[in-house]
Amino acid sequence: MVPRMGELHRDEFRAGQYFVGVAGMAMMRRILARPSEGRPRLDEVRRVMAGFDQFPNDILVEVVEHDLESGYESWAPSYDGPNPLIEAEEPVVHPMLEALPTGRALDAACGTGRHAGHLAALGHETIGIDANAAMLRVARDRFPEVDFRDGRLEALPVPDGSMDLVTCALALCHVTDLGPVFAELARVLRPGGVLVVSDPHPTSAHFGGVASVPDRSQVPAEGFRLPFVANRAHPVHDYVNSAVRAGLRIEECVEVEFPEAALVTNPAAAVLPDAVRQAFGGLPFLLVWRCSKPAR
Ligand SMILES: C[S@@+](CC[C@H](N)C(=O)[O-])C[C@H]1O[C@@H](n2cnc3c(N)ncnc32)[C@H](O)[C@@H]1O
Repeated sequence: MVPRMGELHRDEFRAGQYFVGVAGMAMMRRILARPSEGRPRLDEVRRVMAGFDQFPNDILVEVVEHDLESGYESWAPSYDGPNPLIEAEEPVVHPMLEALPTGRALDAACGTGRHAGHLAALGHETIGIDANAAMLRVARDRFPEVDFRDGRLEALPVPDGSMDLVTCALALCHVTDLGPVFAELARVLRPGGVLVVSDPHPTSAHFGGVASVPDRSQVPAEGFRLPFVANRAHPVHDYVNSAVRAGLRIEECVEVEFPEAALVTNPAAAVLPDAVRQAFGGLPFLLVWRCSKPAR
C-alpha cells in the first residue's frame, strides 16, 4: 500500500490478530506464577483461530501512521474529547501545579492549551508553545488570555531563565532525543524554578500504545481505519540522565497504572474482557516527573 501525503506507513490486520495478541500477552504474564489462570486464554486463542474468517475476528483494520504535522492537524478539532491518558494525568499533575506560587509559566508543546489554560486560570502569566498550527488555532480560540507561540521544543522562543514554571505534557514521546529537549526546558527556567513533565509510559508504548487519531471520515468496506502518530518508548534512564545532565534535580516521579477507562475502552474489551484485564491491568500507563532547577 502506498502512503499518501503526511503518511509514513499504511498496512492492515484482522481484529482476530489483535485478540490473539491480547490473550497471548495475558497468558505470558502468568505463565510461571499462575499458569492455570492463563488456561482460559488458550481456549480463547483456539476459538478465535477456529473462527478467524467470521465476525468479529474478520474485521479489517487499516493502520495509517501519520507524521506529527498531519497527525495533529487532523486530530486538533477532536483532541479535547474523552482521553483516558488525560484523565489519568490531570489528577497527578494538577496538584503539582496548584502547589506552586503564581509567576511566569510556560506550557511547552501545549497542543490545544490544556495546561496553559489551567495555569492562566491559576493566575500565572502564561505562554504556550507548539509546533502544530492546527493545535495552536484551537488553543487560541479556547484560551485568548494565553500568549500562544509557534515554536519547537528543541529551540523554545523564550529567553534564558525567564520562567518560574514549565510544563511539558504528553509530547516527549514524539521527540527523537530527550537530551537536547531537557537542556532547553532547563535553559528557560530561572534558578529555583520547577519543571513538570508527563508522558505516556514507555511500557505502554512497548505494548503498542500510540497517539490514535479519531477518523470517521473514510471507512474501508469491511472494517475501519486507525490513523495514529507513533509514540517512542524512551527508557526511564533516558529521562533521568537527560534531566540530571541538564542540571535539574528530580524531586518526584509518579507512575500511573492502566486505569479502568483504558481497560474498558480497549478494542478487545467487548470480546475478551478478562484477557484485557490480565494483559494490561497493573502495567504502567503514564509517567510524570517533577524537577527543580537548583537556585545558584
Ligand atoms: C499529545 S499532544 C499533547 C498536547 C498537550 N501538551 C496536552 O497534554 O494536552 C502532543 C503535542 O506535542 C506537540 N509536539 C510534538 N513534538 C514537538 C516538538 N518537537 N516541538 C513542539 N511541539 C511538539 C504536537 O504538535 C502536539 O500538539
